Amino acid sequence: MKRIFAIALLSAASAACVPAIPAPTAEHILIAERTWPAITLNDLARGRDTYLERCSSCHMVYTPTRYGAAKWPELVAKMRARAHLQPSEEQDVVRYLTAVAQIPPRT
Ligand code: HEC
Repeated sequence: MKRIFAIALLSAASAACVPAIPAPTAEHILIAERTWPAITLNDLARGRDTYLERCSSCHMVYTPTRYGAAKWPELVAKMRARAHLQPSEEQDVVRYLTAVAQIPPRT
């Protein structure tokens, strides 16, 4: 199972228009708005930047769809101290990951 997943990840990453860490789109906004009505594309983009900058020093960044949206808040909370995240940065990262985790990458 793990190996099948790794192969799926590799092929997703090698398809040029399917990045493993997708830039947020209007589609992600529609999803995020259900939980955070005032959220903007900039908020999600900032979350992505923070994720890439602060969560990549010890291990590779995980593609958002690797974990369910419901799981990300606790994972980020677990890593918060390691990444020295301020509360607003943690919130940005959680919003980005949970929104993007809800749309499977297209292949
Ligand atoms: C200072 C090093 C460090 C930083 C920075 C870091 N991590 Fe981790 N991460 C680890 C280690 C070590 C593990 C292995 C499992 C463990 O020790 O809990 C891990 C495991 C994980 C896992 C695997 C699931 C799990 O619970 O084991 C996820 C997902 C994860 N990190 C996400 C993140 C995110 C999101 C950030 C940024 C907010 C982040 N990490 C920043 C060290 C780090």
